[in-house]
Amino acid sequence: MDVGTGTETGTGAEVPRLEGVPLLGSLLDLKADSLGTYLEARRRHGDVVRIDAGPPGLRLQLYCVFSAEGAQRVLASESANFRKDNPFYQEIRDSFGNGLLTSQDEDYLRQRRLVQPLFTRKRVDGYAGAVAAETGATLAAWAQARDGIVDVSSEMMHLALRAVSRILFGADVDATVDVVHRCFPVITEYVLARGYSPLNVPRSWPTPGNRRAAAAMDELYGVCDRIIAERRRSAAAGQEGEEDLLTLLAGARSSDDGAFDAAELRDQVLIFLLAGHETTATSLAFALHLLARHPEEQARAREEVRRVLGDRTPEAADLDRLPYLTRVLKEAMRLYPAAPVMGRQSVAASEIDGHAIPAGSTVILAPWVTHRHPRYWSDPERFDPDRFTPEAEAGRPRYAWFPFGGGPRACIGQHFSMLESVIALAMILRAYAFDAVDTEVPLSAGITLETKGPMRCRVRRVEG
Ligand code: HEM
Repeated sequence: MDVGTGTETGTGAEVPRLEGVPLLGSLLDLKADSLGTYLEARRRHGDVVRIDAGPPGLRLQLYCVFSAEGAQRVLASESANFRKDNPFYQEIRDSFGNGLLTSQDEDYLRQRRLVQPLFTRKRVDGYAGAVAAETGATLAAWAQARDGIVDVSSEMMHLALRAVSRILFGADVDATVDVVHRCFPVITEYVLARGYSPLNVPRSWPTPGNRRAAAAMDELYGVCDRIIAERRRSAAAGQEGEEDLLTLLAGARSSDDGAFDAAELRDQVLIFLLAGHETTATSLAFALHLLARHPEEQARAREEVRRVLGDRTPEAADLDRLPYLTRVLKEAMRLYPAAPVMGRQSVAASEIDGHAIPAGSTVILAPWVTHRHPRYWSDPERFDPDRFTPEAEAGRPRYAWFPFGGGPRACIGQHFSMLESVIALAMILRAYAFDAVDTEVPLSAGITLETKGPMRCRVRRVEG
């Protein structure tokens, strides 16, 4: 039986199929340029399109849903019918373990209950000081930038990794930044290649691909173990510090919520490293890069920051006072959603936008495509933060913009990320003016949106 095909077909019209080549369907197109393939599928066939990948008999069939209304059904109103059981999530789970992003059912509910207190609005507002301190350190280092040029992509990765580690793990990760940035791409490439492949050899076989991924995993596990050990040492030395993810999870051992063993603890650290830094870094880097290419919007954002903040350090309450900066970030996340594609597996047959989605289908949602859908966005490729004025937002369906997903499995870090991004962007813009050196940035879709080259900008100090 074809992979991802159910027997129950459900009601509604048959889903149109994107034409591929006879034997492999669209497999090579997806591997070469998945985002372009999804865009083309919508352009040719509309809001619900099937894309086949692989030879007949072993074919992966992707039911792609591009409308806001369809995304809402999959993620929110019918979320129980669309589970994280598809081949991609299974691969992520096999690589990154059973943490909050990947777990389901009882495991998931237990984990979410435990972790939730760290992400209440009040709690997250308290992280503002740490974010400002990390941003200050980044800005100080730019004073030494060679020829005044910085790669905003690697700079924002470093900043976001430091911030999330300090806040969630109470750890200084400087020594591990290189390992994280070297190893994550190896694993994500592996996960994707296996996710699209019609047939995979077992992970335990000593093929070059398996060995490379296993070595990268070992290094990442080493990082997690060091973070956990460092936290234990500081706790044992009586340096209690703030309660963070590690103290919460470790403390759960003695409560009714059930024990986290060493492996589970490591899985959580890994998932939060994965979910909590690249995503925010990508949004920040693109916001900066877009402003570097749009001087008028950059000047307007800087003017707002200076007027609202003057010389003082931004705090959580400033988020509401910096509406233009928030719009810039939302527009950057529209054009460059850090999670450009999400997947689910249907349990029972259903009907979406008048089309029949069979039981057991792999369903793909693509913010990358919905965020460029001409029904919701005029001139979609144009950078225009004013698309996010309250009036403009009220005129669009809720899921025309969903960079953080939605429904019960929506991003737990959404407010954390917005707080971090607004504070960092405000401090950066107040201190430096930007010009893009690399105007074109080649992209690819890993688990998150990845840049395939630097995003260099020339920076000039503007502070008095
Ligand atoms: C711009 C920044 C971010 C973006 C675009 C983003 C995007 C997303 C998306 C789309 C999902 C849902 C995935 C799905 O439905 O398949 C998600 C879930 C998640 N995110 Fe984020 N995220 C961001 C920042 C963060 C941060 C800062 C953290 C942690 C500190 C975080 C932790 C998580 C976790 C743990 C989940 C799983 C939540 C659950 O299933 O209950 N994310 N994120």
